[in-house]
Amino acid sequence: MKLTKQNILNLEYKNNPDKLLGMGCATYYTDMFLKVLIKEFDFFNRFKNSKLTKEGIVKKFKIKDRPANVFLPILVKKGFLDVKDNKYFLTDFSKEFLLSSSKKYFADFIIHATSYIIENQLYNNIKSIMKSDKPVYSTKNGDWIKNMKANKDFAQTFTRALDERGLFLANSLVKKINLKNYKRMVDIGGSSGIYSCFISTYFPNLNIDILEISSVVPQTKKLIKERGFSNKINVISGDMFNYNYNQEYDVHFYSNVLHDWNKKDVKKLLKRSYNNLPKNGIVVIHDGHKDIKNNPMSLLENDISLLMITPGRYYFEHEIFDILKEIGFKAIKKKEVFSGRSLIFGKK
Ligand SMILES: C[S@@+](CC[C@H](N)C(=O)[O-])C[C@H]1O[C@@H](n2cnc3c(N)ncnc32)[C@H](O)[C@@H]1O
Repeated sequence: MKLTKQNILNLEYKNNPDKLLGMGCATYYTDMFLKVLIKEFDFFNRFKNSKLTKEGIVKKFKIKDRPANVFLPILVKKGFLDVKDNKYFLTDFSKEFLLSSSKKYFADFIIHATSYIIENQLYNNIKSIMKSDKPVYSTKNGDWIKNMKANKDFAQTFTRALDERGLFLANSLVKKINLKNYKRMVDIGGSSGIYSCFISTYFPNLNIDILEISSVVPQTKKLIKERGFSNKINVISGDMFNYNYNQEYDVHFYSNVLHDWNKKDVKKLLKRSYNNLPKNGIVVIHDGHKDIKNNPMSLLENDISLLMITPGRYYFEHEIFDILKEIGFKAIKKKEVFSGRSLIFGKK
């Protein structure tokens, strides 16, 4: 489908592609965490009847904080752990099947079944991340961002992939946002520009600049032109960590960008936005924002990819709220978009 203003306005979905959102990333990796936890950490036997916070789990099992933030929601989702008042505990299911003291113990089957042998490399990658927190691919091929900068083919394929996902999410997001009273938006790490195209269609008074790295810019420019948005959307090459926004934008939009970075860098980016927004300007963050307990599987599957190949992860909603508050943003609020993705707003 050629994306035009007209068919953006008429776009309708008959089916829900949620299961495809996870699949692009790591659909079947979720079970491998269980195997690693049982085999490498004797996780359930050592957990037994305790009630532990995430910090307590990190300390007790000597697992790094970032992987813990990724696998705990998976274990809760799969019914191996439950959580109340931020304390995790074994479910009846785990007590029945995953404690070696139980007559119905099942864990030898889990860890010695063939998938462990077939997927040996995956097993070892997960094991290494739990203990070291180093993204797996960083040493061999360069991390994905180095790859994006150095390899034009990779940058193109990746941007195309995000464009397909973006069509669905942008279509949902644009109906949850009101930018009527704003003048100029910067779409930071805007990739193919798909979100900007939707936002421009619904808010034609807004002028938009997309800020991207130089290897992505030619493709973004081409798509913006083909899609008929050149008069409203401009594409700039620059680095979001040191770009001078000059207080020119009253909306800073980050879609699926913060999850690529560690918490220190997330704070740096948001602080930079705060300092560069005019009074009453807003930051709009579209991303996967996890809940402590209820998350769609497709989001948790994506989270594994982030853990494996970036220094980031999906942050919990409360973590982003805390960072925004700490920086000085006001009127912080969240709106659900789809499949665990949501919009978080903050005003200067
Ligand atoms: C995960 S993608 C998200 C793309 C798009 N916003 C979306 O929601 O699908 C992150 C984007 O950030 C861009 N990016 C990474 N580092 C950047 C930097 N330092 N400055 C500007 N853009 C950057 C990448 O090229 C990539 O397109």
